[in-house]
Amino acid sequence: MFKRLKEKWKLSWTSFVLVFSTFAIGGSSCGYLGRKLLTLTGLESGVFYYVLYIVLMCLLWPLCVIIVSIPMGQFGFFRNYLRKMSQTIFGVSSKAPKPQNGSFSVKKRNLALFASGAGSNAQKIIEHFEGHPSIRVSLIVCNKPGAGVLQIAANNDVPVLMIEKKDFEHGNMYVKELSKYEIDFIVLAGFLWKMPEAFLNAFPRHMINIHPSLLPKFGGKGMYGSRVHEAVIAAGEKESGITIHYVNAHYDEGEHLFQATCTVDATDTPDTLASKVHALEHLHFARVIEDVIEGKL
Ligand code: GAR
Repeated sequence: MFKRLKEKWKLSWTSFVLVFSTFAIGGSSCGYLGRKLLTLTGLESGVFYYVLYIVLMCLLWPLCVIIVSIPMGQFGFFRNYLRKMSQTIFGVSSKAPKPQNGSFSVKKRNLALFASGAGSNAQKIIEHFEGHPSIRVSLIVCNKPGAGVLQIAANNDVPVLMIEKKDFEHGNMYVKELSKYEIDFIVLAGFLWKMPEAFLNAFPRHMINIHPSLLPKFGGKGMYGSRVHEAVIAAGEKESGITIHYVNAHYDEGEHLFQATCTVDATDTPDTLASKVHALEHLHFARVIEDVIEGKL
Protein backbone atom coordinates (compact mmCIF):
# COMPACT_ATOMS: atom_id res chain seq x y z
CA MET A 1 0.00 0.00 0.00
CA PHE A 2 2.82 2.40 0.97
CA LYS A 3 4.64 1.65 -2.27
CA ARG A 4 1.54 2.43 -4.33
CA LEU A 5 0.97 5.71 -2.47
CA LYS A 6 4.65 6.65 -2.86
CA GLU A 7 4.40 6.06 -6.61
CA LYS A 8 1.11 7.94 -6.87
CA TRP A 9 2.59 10.95 -5.11
CA LYS A 10 5.88 10.58 -7.06
CA LEU A 11 8.03 10.89 -3.93
CA SER A 12 11.37 9.49 -2.86
CA TRP A 13 11.22 7.25 0.24
CA THR A 14 12.66 10.08 2.43
CA SER A 15 10.03 12.57 1.27
CA PHE A 16 7.35 9.92 1.62
CA VAL A 17 8.29 9.33 5.29
CA LEU A 18 8.30 13.11 5.91
CA VAL A 19 4.90 13.53 4.21
CA PHE A 20 3.47 10.63 6.17
CA SER A 21 4.82 12.03 9.46
CA THR A 22 3.30 15.43 8.59
CA PHE A 23 -0.11 13.80 8.13
CA ALA A 24 0.29 12.01 11.47
CA ILE A 25 1.57 14.99 13.50
CA GLY A 26 -0.80 17.46 11.79
CA GLY A 27 -3.76 15.13 12.30
CA SER A 28 -3.13 14.50 15.99
CA SER A 29 -2.43 18.19 16.77
CA CYS A 30 -5.69 19.03 15.03
CA GLY A 31 -7.59 16.49 17.23
CA TYR A 32 -5.90 17.84 20.36
CA LEU A 33 -6.59 21.50 19.49
CA GLY A 34 -10.20 20.71 18.55
CA ARG A 35 -10.90 19.06 21.91
CA LYS A 36 -9.20 21.97 23.78
CA LEU A 37 -11.36 24.51 21.93
CA LEU A 38 -14.53 22.50 22.62
CA THR A 39 -13.89 22.55 26.37
CA LEU A 40 -14.11 26.36 26.14
CA THR A 41 -17.74 26.06 24.93
CA GLY A 42 -18.71 24.12 28.08
CA LEU A 43 -20.29 21.38 25.90
CA GLU A 44 -19.41 17.77 26.75
CA SER A 45 -21.69 15.68 24.54
CA GLY A 46 -24.84 15.82 22.47
CA VAL A 47 -25.57 16.41 18.80
CA PHE A 48 -24.39 20.03 18.87
CA TYR A 49 -21.09 18.93 20.46
CA TYR A 50 -20.38 16.45 17.63
CA VAL A 51 -21.47 18.82 14.86
CA LEU A 52 -19.18 21.50 16.27
CA TYR A 53 -16.37 18.96 16.61
CA ILE A 54 -16.66 17.96 12.93
CA VAL A 55 -16.76 21.61 11.79
CA LEU A 56 -13.69 22.40 13.90
CA MET A 57 -11.80 19.40 12.49
CA CYS A 58 -12.57 20.49 8.92
CA LEU A 59 -11.26 23.98 9.63
CA LEU A 60 -8.26 23.04 11.75
CA TRP A 61 -6.93 20.06 9.79
CA PRO A 62 -5.64 21.96 6.72
CA LEU A 63 -4.17 24.63 9.00
CA CYS A 64 -2.37 22.08 11.19
CA VAL A 65 -0.88 20.02 8.34
CA ILE A 66 0.30 23.09 6.45
CA ILE A 67 2.00 24.47 9.59
CA VAL A 68 3.66 21.12 10.36
CA SER A 69 4.73 20.75 6.71
CA ILE A 70 6.99 23.83 6.98
CA PRO A 71 9.57 22.41 9.46
CA MET A 72 9.23 19.04 7.69
CA GLY A 73 10.29 20.70 4.41
CA GLN A 74 7.11 19.48 2.66
CA PHE A 75 5.25 22.76 2.24
CA GLY A 76 5.15 22.49 -1.57
CA PHE A 77 3.61 19.02 -1.45
CA PHE A 78 0.89 20.04 1.04
CA ARG A 79 0.11 23.33 -0.72
CA ASN A 80 -0.67 21.31 -3.87
CA TYR A 81 -2.41 18.55 -1.94
CA LEU A 82 -4.77 21.01 -0.26
CA ARG A 83 -5.32 22.91 -3.49
CA LYS A 84 -6.32 19.70 -5.28
CA MET A 85 -8.53 18.72 -2.35
CA SER A 86 -10.37 22.04 -2.42
CA GLN A 87 -10.79 21.73 -6.19
CA THR A 88 -12.36 18.31 -5.71
CA ILE A 89 -14.66 19.48 -2.91
CA PHE A 90 -15.71 22.83 -4.36
CA GLY A 91 -15.31 21.86 -8.01
CA VAL A 92 -13.22 24.91 -8.92
CA SER A 93 -9.78 25.09 -10.36
CA SER A 94 -7.54 27.83 -8.98
CA LYS A 95 -5.42 27.45 -12.12
CA ALA A 96 -8.29 27.91 -14.55
CA PRO A 97 -7.85 31.01 -16.69
CA LYS A 98 -10.15 33.85 -15.72
CA PRO A 99 -12.26 34.99 -18.64
CA GLN A 100 -11.89 38.71 -19.27
CA ASN A 101 -14.39 40.79 -21.21
CA GLY A 102 -13.04 42.09 -24.45
CA SER A 103 -9.84 40.07 -24.28
CA PHE A 104 -8.85 37.21 -26.57
CA SER A 105 -6.78 34.27 -25.48
CA VAL A 106 -3.35 33.55 -26.97
CA LYS A 107 -2.56 29.88 -27.53
CA LYS A 108 0.29 29.06 -25.21
CA ARG A 109 3.40 27.25 -26.38
CA ASN A 110 3.84 24.03 -24.40
CA LEU A 111 7.28 23.18 -23.10
CA ALA A 112 8.45 19.69 -22.12
CA LEU A 113 11.43 19.49 -19.78
CA PHE A 114 13.49 16.31 -20.07
CA ALA A 115 15.34 15.90 -16.78
CA SER A 116 16.63 13.03 -14.71
CA GLY A 117 18.70 14.68 -12.00
CA ALA A 118 18.10 16.84 -8.95
CA GLY A 119 16.03 19.19 -11.08
CA SER A 120 17.37 22.54 -9.88
CA ASN A 121 17.23 23.87 -13.45
CA ALA A 122 13.72 22.50 -13.92
CA GLN A 123 12.66 24.35 -10.76
CA LYS A 124 14.07 27.65 -12.04
CA ILE A 125 12.45 27.18 -15.45
CA ILE A 126 9.06 26.39 -13.91
CA GLU A 127 9.32 29.50 -11.71
CA HIS A 128 10.34 31.65 -14.68
CA PHE A 129 7.33 30.62 -16.79
CA GLU A 130 4.75 30.70 -14.00
CA GLY A 131 2.10 33.15 -15.19
CA HIS A 132 3.94 33.71 -18.50
CA PRO A 133 1.50 35.01 -21.14
CA SER A 134 2.51 32.64 -23.93
CA ILE A 135 4.75 29.81 -22.68
CA ARG A 136 4.07 27.16 -20.09
CA VAL A 137 5.90 24.13 -18.71
CA SER A 138 3.41 21.38 -19.53
CA LEU A 139 5.34 18.18 -18.96
CA ILE A 140 8.40 16.72 -17.27
CA VAL A 141 9.89 13.68 -18.95
CA CYS A 142 12.14 11.53 -16.79
CA ASN A 143 13.90 8.19 -17.08
CA LYS A 144 15.02 7.82 -13.47
CA PRO A 145 12.61 6.67 -10.76
CA GLY A 146 13.31 8.57 -7.52
CA ALA A 147 15.06 11.50 -9.27
CA GLY A 148 14.77 14.82 -7.41
CA VAL A 149 13.04 16.39 -10.40
CA LEU A 150 9.98 14.19 -9.76
CA GLN A 151 9.44 15.88 -6.41
CA ILE A 152 9.76 19.26 -8.12
CA ALA A 153 7.13 18.19 -10.67
CA ALA A 154 4.79 17.09 -7.86
CA ASN A 155 5.36 20.32 -5.90
CA ASN A 156 4.54 22.39 -8.94
CA ASP A 157 1.69 20.28 -10.30
CA VAL A 158 3.48 19.49 -13.56
CA PRO A 159 2.51 16.13 -15.13
CA VAL A 160 5.29 13.56 -15.49
CA LEU A 161 5.98 11.06 -18.23
CA MET A 162 8.34 8.25 -17.15
CA ILE A 163 10.17 6.70 -20.06
CA GLU A 164 11.97 3.40 -20.74
CA LYS A 165 15.18 3.26 -22.76
CA LYS A 166 14.05 0.60 -25.25
CA ASP A 167 10.84 2.40 -26.20
CA PHE A 168 12.68 5.73 -26.27
CA GLU A 169 15.35 4.57 -28.69
CA HIS A 170 13.07 2.65 -31.04
CA GLY A 171 9.89 3.83 -32.71
CA ASN A 172 7.93 6.96 -31.98
CA MET A 173 5.73 5.93 -29.09
CA TYR A 174 6.94 8.81 -26.90
CA VAL A 175 6.70 11.37 -29.70
CA LYS A 176 3.04 10.41 -29.93
CA GLU A 177 2.76 10.64 -26.17
CA LEU A 178 4.15 14.20 -26.28
CA SER A 179 1.63 15.17 -28.93
CA LYS A 180 -1.14 14.40 -26.42
CA TYR A 181 0.25 17.30 -24.38
CA GLU A 182 0.57 19.40 -27.56
CA ILE A 183 4.28 19.92 -26.85
CA ASP A 184 5.87 22.56 -29.09
CA PHE A 185 9.36 22.74 -27.65
CA ILE A 186 11.74 20.43 -25.76
CA VAL A 187 14.36 21.49 -23.23
CA LEU A 188 16.94 19.04 -21.90
CA ALA A 189 17.87 20.09 -18.37
CA GLY A 190 20.07 17.34 -16.98
CA PHE A 191 18.96 14.61 -19.38
CA LEU A 192 21.68 12.19 -20.43
CA TRP A 193 20.29 9.96 -23.18
CA LYS A 194 21.02 10.75 -26.81
CA MET A 195 17.91 12.03 -28.59
CA PRO A 196 16.73 9.46 -31.15
CA GLU A 197 15.80 10.19 -34.75
CA ALA A 198 12.05 10.19 -34.05
CA PHE A 199 12.48 13.22 -31.76
CA LEU A 200 14.99 14.99 -34.02
CA ASN A 201 12.52 14.72 -36.90
CA ALA A 202 9.52 15.78 -34.84
CA PHE A 203 11.21 18.81 -33.20
CA PRO A 204 13.66 20.32 -35.73
CA ARG A 205 15.27 23.43 -34.10
CA HIS A 206 12.71 23.02 -31.34
CA MET A 207 14.94 21.13 -28.92
CA ILE A 208 17.75 22.61 -26.83
CA ASN A 209 20.19 21.32 -24.21
CA ILE A 210 22.33 22.82 -21.49
CA HIS A 211 25.83 21.51 -20.90
CA PRO A 212 28.00 22.42 -17.89
CA SER A 213 31.18 23.37 -19.81
CA LEU A 214 32.35 25.66 -22.57
CA LEU A 215 31.70 23.36 -25.52
CA PRO A 216 33.28 22.04 -27.68
CA LYS A 217 35.58 21.35 -24.70
CA PHE A 218 34.57 18.65 -22.23
CA GLY A 219 31.48 17.41 -24.06
CA GLY A 220 30.46 14.13 -25.63
CA LYS A 221 29.31 10.74 -24.45
CA GLY A 222 29.86 10.14 -20.73
CA MET A 223 30.57 13.82 -20.04
CA TYR A 224 27.98 14.99 -17.56
CA GLY A 225 27.66 16.43 -14.08
CA SER A 226 30.75 16.20 -11.86
CA ARG A 227 32.70 14.24 -14.51
CA VAL A 228 32.82 17.44 -16.55
CA HIS A 229 34.12 19.53 -13.63
CA GLU A 230 36.73 16.91 -12.68
CA ALA A 231 38.01 16.93 -16.27
CA VAL A 232 38.09 20.75 -16.41
CA ILE A 233 40.17 20.94 -13.21
CA ALA A 234 42.46 18.07 -14.27
CA ALA A 235 43.14 19.88 -17.54
CA GLY A 236 44.25 23.01 -15.63
CA GLU A 237 41.62 25.22 -17.30
CA LYS A 238 41.39 28.79 -16.02
CA GLU A 239 37.83 29.21 -17.23
CA SER A 240 34.69 27.10 -17.43
CA GLY A 241 31.01 27.83 -17.88
CA ILE A 242 27.83 26.76 -19.63
CA THR A 243 26.73 26.16 -23.19
CA ILE A 244 23.13 26.17 -24.37
CA HIS A 245 22.76 24.63 -27.82
CA TYR A 246 20.35 23.04 -30.25
CA VAL A 247 20.22 19.26 -30.05
CA ASN A 248 21.34 17.18 -33.01
CA ALA A 249 22.17 13.51 -33.54
CA HIS A 250 25.51 13.78 -31.70
CA TYR A 251 26.12 14.39 -28.01
CA ASP A 252 26.72 18.10 -27.28
CA GLU A 253 27.41 19.01 -30.91
CA GLY A 254 24.41 21.10 -31.98
CA GLU A 255 24.65 24.77 -32.96
CA HIS A 256 25.51 27.03 -30.01
CA LEU A 257 22.95 29.56 -28.81
CA PHE A 258 24.57 30.95 -25.69
CA GLN A 259 27.64 30.63 -23.47
CA ALA A 260 28.52 32.20 -20.11
CA THR A 261 31.80 31.81 -18.26
CA CYS A 262 33.17 31.60 -14.74
CA THR A 263 36.74 31.41 -13.47
CA VAL A 264 38.37 28.18 -12.35
CA ASP A 265 40.51 29.05 -9.34
CA ALA A 266 43.46 27.05 -8.03
CA THR A 267 41.42 26.23 -4.90
CA ASP A 268 38.36 24.97 -6.84
CA THR A 269 37.20 21.39 -6.38
CA PRO A 270 34.66 19.67 -8.68
CA ASP A 271 32.01 20.58 -6.09
CA THR A 272 32.84 24.29 -5.87
CA LEU A 273 33.11 24.49 -9.64
CA ALA A 274 29.74 22.73 -9.96
CA SER A 275 28.21 25.42 -7.72
CA LYS A 276 29.60 28.21 -9.88
CA VAL A 277 28.33 26.53 -13.03
CA HIS A 278 24.91 25.84 -11.51
CA ALA A 279 24.66 29.52 -10.54
CA LEU A 280 25.26 30.46 -14.19
CA GLU A 281 22.66 27.94 -15.34
CA HIS A 282 20.07 29.26 -12.91
CA LEU A 283 20.79 32.82 -13.96
CA HIS A 284 20.59 32.38 -17.74
CA PHE A 285 18.86 29.18 -18.86
CA ALA A 286 15.18 30.14 -18.50
CA ARG A 287 15.70 33.54 -20.14
CA VAL A 288 17.58 31.94 -23.07
CA ILE A 289 14.76 29.39 -23.51
CA GLU A 290 12.25 32.24 -23.62
CA ASP A 291 14.33 34.17 -26.17
CA VAL A 292 14.74 31.10 -28.41
CA ILE A 293 11.03 30.25 -28.32
CA GLU A 294 10.09 33.86 -29.03
CA GLY A 295 12.55 34.02 -31.94
CA LYS A 296 14.79 36.63 -30.27
CA LEU A 297 17.88 34.43 -30.38
C1 GAR B 1 23.22 20.55 -15.03
O1 GAR B 1 24.42 21.06 -14.52
C2 GAR B 1 23.34 20.33 -16.51
O2 GAR B 1 24.19 21.24 -17.13
C3 GAR B 1 23.92 18.95 -16.57
O3 GAR B 1 23.23 18.24 -15.57
C4 GAR B 1 22.97 19.13 -14.50
C5 GAR B 1 21.55 18.95 -14.03
O4 GAR B 1 21.37 19.64 -12.83
N1 GAR B 1 23.75 18.35 -17.85
C6 GAR B 1 24.69 17.60 -18.43
O5 GAR B 1 25.72 17.30 -17.85
C7 GAR B 1 24.34 17.11 -19.83
N2 GAR B 1 25.50 16.57 -20.47
P1 GAR B 1 19.92 19.82 -12.21
O6 GAR B 1 19.28 18.44 -12.21
O7 GAR B 1 20.16 20.35 -10.83
O8 GAR B 1 19.17 20.77 -13.09
